[in-house]
Amino acid sequence: MQPDEIDCLIRLIASEDLPGKHLEVGTARGITLCAMVQALRSPHDPAFVVVDNMRYFPDQIRLIRDNLERFGVDPDSIEFRIGDSRKVFRKAQEAGDSFDAQAGSLLALRKRGESATPEVPVIDRLWAMMWSIVLRFRK
Ligand SMILES: C[S@@+](CC[C@H](N)C(=O)[O-])C[C@H]1O[C@@H](n2cnc3c(N)ncnc32)[C@H](O)[C@@H]1O
Repeated sequence: MQPDEIDCLIRLIASEDLPGKHLEVGTARGITLCAMVQALRSPHDPAFVVVDNMRYFPDQIRLIRDNLERFGVDPDSIEFRIGDSRKVFRKAQEAGDSFDAQAGSLLALRKRGESATPEVPVIDRLWAMMWSIVLRFRK
């Protein structure tokens, strides 16, 4: 994310005291995560839930935990759900998990009630699946 996008996200988190679980999908080095945790207006347990398959960098989890410590965030305050986001979301849905703030791209969503239709239509999921295969081979 660009610095102005991160600023926007941080302002959003700091502007409301959302009581529920906060979620980041795809954390890379965990730098934005540190800023988001520090922007929370009240203590949360866990401070954040992070979904990531940890295949972006070698020993990515170590890198993230080191960065969290470096920026004064206790790595053990983060709940890491390691795996492919589709599988992790399916599990979370089955467990009845819900989240107050969602981040992981520029779009931050606040859900205020049950949706009448799926938020992500099948065509978008197929499009994303196609791109994930293409991008994996381009790496
Ligand atoms: C571009 S980085 C995220 C950047 C980060 N949000 C930031 O603000 O700096 C993408 C992250 O998503 C993770 N990722 C990519 N595809 C994934 C998938 N299908 N399931 C879970 N994590 C995934 C990668 O491991 C990586 O950590």
